[in-house]
Amino acid sequence: MKCKRIFLTGFMGSGKSTLGQIIANTLGWNFLDLDKEIEKKVGKSITDIFRDEGESKFRSIESDVLKQTSKLEDSIIALGGGTFTTDENISIIKSLGKSIYIKSKPEDIYVRLRFKTNRPLFQGLDQRILSKEEALQKISFLMSAREPFYSKADIVFSVDNSNVGKVVDLLIKTIYKKFNI
Ligand code: S3P
Repeated sequence: MKCKRIFLTGFMGSGKSTLGQIIANTLGWNFLDLDKEIEKKVGKSITDIFRDEGESKFRSIESDVLKQTSKLEDSIIALGGGTFTTDENISIIKSLGKSIYIKSKPEDIYVRLRFKTNRPLFQGLDQRILSKEEALQKISFLMSAREPFYSKADIVFSVDNSNVGKVVDLLIKTIYKKFNI
């Protein structure tokens, strides 16, 4: 069967949205960022949804918006870092298309996220910016809890902080080789 949707999963700051947009342009496909769709639907930023409504409400909106991607064809969909971490979401994704886990090391994630203030799960409980040590600990802890889920993706694609062009090149070749598009 032809593959109509490719979902990118992986930790916050692993490059899902950046890579997704470039791959979509290269393939001539549509690009969708699940976080952006959630923000459009609710009319609030992700940070405000977490603050005002809590994580569990956010997760339920996230699953609803995920189901709506079934209406899209020829699309690359960048998931949020927590989307591919429940059996329910994973089975929705598997029924709709193929998935790729963009796998990064905690150090690389830290470098990309350290100055960002729009990742509620990455701040301290009092919303202060974490020290490097605290941040690395938090990233490694969350990552090991999520790894067993992320690994259920059809492809595990490891990235480092090297040249984006090279990464995209290899990713496109892998997609053509492994998926029927
Ligand atoms: C989250 C990741 C974020 C966003 C929300 C929760 C997570 O998306 O969905 O802040 O649980 O890892 P990105 O992975 O695009 O940063």
